[in-house]
Amino acid sequence: MDAAFRKVNGDTGTQGSMYLEEQTNKSGVLSCMFSLKEEVGALAKALRLFEEKGITLTHIESRPSRLNKDVYEFFISVDTTSAKALDDVIDGLRTQITGHVHELSRNKQKDTVPWFPKDIQDLDRFANQILSYGAELDADHPGFTDPVYRARRKEFADIAYSYKHGQPIPKVEYTEEEKKTWGTVFMELKTLYPSHACREHNRIFPLLEKYCGYREDNVPQLEDISRFLQSCTGFRLRPVAGLLSSRDFLAGLAFRVFHSTQYIRHSSKPMYTPEPDICHELLGHVPLFADPSFAQFSQEIGLASLGAPDEYIEKLATVYWFTVEFGLCKQGSEIKAYGAGLLSSFGELQYCLTDKPKLCPFEPEKTCIQTYPITQFQPVYFIAESFEDAKEKVRKFAAIIPRPFSVRYNPYTQSIEVLDNLQQLQNLADSINGEMAILCSALRKME
Ligand SMILES: [Fe+2]
Repeated sequence: MDAAFRKVNGDTGTQGSMYLEEQTNKSGVLSCMFSLKEEVGALAKALRLFEEKGITLTHIESRPSRLNKDVYEFFISVDTTSAKALDDVIDGLRTQITGHVHELSRNKQKDTVPWFPKDIQDLDRFANQILSYGAELDADHPGFTDPVYRARRKEFADIAYSYKHGQPIPKVEYTEEEKKTWGTVFMELKTLYPSHACREHNRIFPLLEKYCGYREDNVPQLEDISRFLQSCTGFRLRPVAGLLSSRDFLAGLAFRVFHSTQYIRHSSKPMYTPEPDICHELLGHVPLFADPSFAQFSQEIGLASLGAPDEYIEKLATVYWFTVEFGLCKQGSEIKAYGAGLLSSFGELQYCLTDKPKLCPFEPEKTCIQTYPITQFQPVYFIAESFEDAKEKVRKFAAIIPRPFSVRYNPYTQSIEVLDNLQQLQNLADSINGEMAILCSALRKME
């Protein structure tokens, strides 16, 4: 093989994922395909054109043509810095190897697959990619002029920065002032849950009181909750220093990992926070992640986001906003709240079930383009028929996202399988086969 060629193969990656990662580590990739008659030296002549122009191939594949047994087809990729030189090479292939080039196509891969985590440890990379640092507050933040609060926020941010997957989440000794803030929020919201929260939230909340230290005078610890969630649905928490990008945050859900803040809002305004805090996470999000159906629904959104183009990440983030954050659902003849933004807001939890906001059925293709305010009560809410129904709708929505593969989460290896080759599909078929055998056996025994 010519020294100018650098073969990219899967021997250092998993499930062929190295190929995707290699593409996205570059500013972009250009690919072209050409075919040559099977002749001694034909490929060498073609490759010499690349060498003369100083082009390094990042990928090359060959296969016999299905149309003509005397012809071989070649697929090559170069990075976009070689765009101009590649034009010259293509001209050379056309003119200097006339008669040997049967087909030549060039495809600028605008839809190069963005990098996404393949293994759960890859989530460690997100720690340094937050959009806002947990200790840097906006001027209108209630704690902006409080140096003690700001120093405390830095302590929390540092925990998240140094956290690695698999470690226990460091326990925090909350101050009396912090506990008082928590207690105020906890007691106010608890009075509304029986009448306003969905039945899943009301079923799980007492369990959190029993097993995870949910009490007026105690701020529960992320580590205890994470262990509880793992035993219920396999969901786990990770501390996060500030806001992640939508892409990174959604990717965590694909692994059943929820990035959770650990700090608490400023004590001067216990019923207000301009950003997610531990009250929002623990009272709003955590109970539902212990419900198997909701956990699956959340993971579906995460899986749909892996490798999706930016415009679809925005759409999925909007779907997430109107479901996991601000969702309403039908329960019998009533409508109840299941979104964390509602279940952690005393004011909006009451408002959302009045006749003031507009209510629409949850339909991902319509929901995903709905605009929304961030700092006011929502003017529009979307109602899910059930978590199962919402999950099916998200699955169908995910199917229209343009990406050249499907993905599957393997809970045994805690990794994402990219289903883009026959071996992967064979493994999946074997796995389904095993599950079907168990199902048939169980059915027979019940008869
Ligand atoms: Fe949230």
